[in-house]
Amino acid sequence: MEDSIMKRKILVSWAMLERGKEVLKKSKSEVRYLHGPKGELPTLKELIQAVRQADVLVPRGTQPVPQEVILSNPNLLGIANYGVGYDNIDVATANKLGIPVTNTPGVLTETTADLAWALLMATARKIPQARDFVLSGQWKGPGGKVFMGQDIGPGGSNKPKTLGIIGFGRIGQAVMRRSRGFKMKVVAFDPLMKEMTGKTRGVEYREFAQLLKESDFVTLHCPLTKETHHLIGQRELDLMKPTSILINTSRGPVVDEGALVTALKKGRIAGAGMDVYEKEPKLTPGLLNLENVVLLPHIGSATQDTREQMAVVAARNAVAMARGKKPLNIINPEVFQSTKYLQK
Ligand code: 8YV
Repeated sequence: MEDSIMKRKILVSWAMLERGKEVLKKSKSEVRYLHGPKGELPTLKELIQAVRQADVLVPRGTQPVPQEVILSNPNLLGIANYGVGYDNIDVATANKLGIPVTNTPGVLTETTADLAWALLMATARKIPQARDFVLSGQWKGPGGKVFMGQDIGPGGSNKPKTLGIIGFGRIGQAVMRRSRGFKMKVVAFDPLMKEMTGKTRGVEYREFAQLLKESDFVTLHCPLTKETHHLIGQRELDLMKPTSILINTSRGPVVDEGALVTALKKGRIAGAGMDVYEKEPKLTPGLLNLENVVLLPHIGSATQDTREQMAVVAARNAVAMARGKKPLNIINPEVFQSTKYLQK
């Protein structure tokens, strides 16, 4: 291969896991790692400066790559996101400049579904609250506080619970599989996957409002787009059962956090389990003081194995784009036909 192609510069703007670094090293590309000594992300200014010198950018999934970063180097050959979600990237600007964007789907499906399920169980049975109670020495035996939870399975009265899945893509389907051992009724809403729900044993399609009215658990697995921004607001929370629980492992802004805090305070829904927030890592005031929430710090895909695989996938996508080849996980395949891309 031509030396100039081998020497294309890949900029990794976070502390990439070793397995990903190995892929980049083997490719013999020129690689620059830009982050603080403890893995701190670069500032926007630092990122812009570094992107000017790069051919391919590999950002962290939750690291913003706004218009000004992309515009700083119209010659970029690609952006290889480390994450399946890509709402952190201004894909519209990338499209205009003929810049391919990739993500890391598949490798994190099961891990994220595990976390969603763990969060559902923890919220329903108030596990973190009960643990805090023990750790703080408040447990004095019988007669004291009892952490009454919600059933996930049919419970003593043998009434199956309904799981409402919003977003029936890979992760939504993996969550559905986990519900099978709990004898739940499963309903799903996803306009793009309507046919798929019809073909899936034990899943019934529901229109959005109907799903909210019927479900004991509502779990979100849709990407963040203009259409899904604040998909769950006051109106939607009002439709849910007062005994229901909302689980969000998708993206924070899918839920209007202010409306959620109000609904939880007023007991309009029974609880919420959240791994993602509107303005991470900031939390809407009031959220922290609620008894009926379980809050996690965006760890959906956070297992060693999965994060390593994500790093490998992101690195492979980056190398392919640096070499002008088609990557495996392209989000905007139309750019390959664009004059802007072909001229690079
Ligand atoms: C984060 C995620 O990207 O893949 C996604 O969409 O939300 C996570 O896996 C992860 O924190 C890496 O930045």
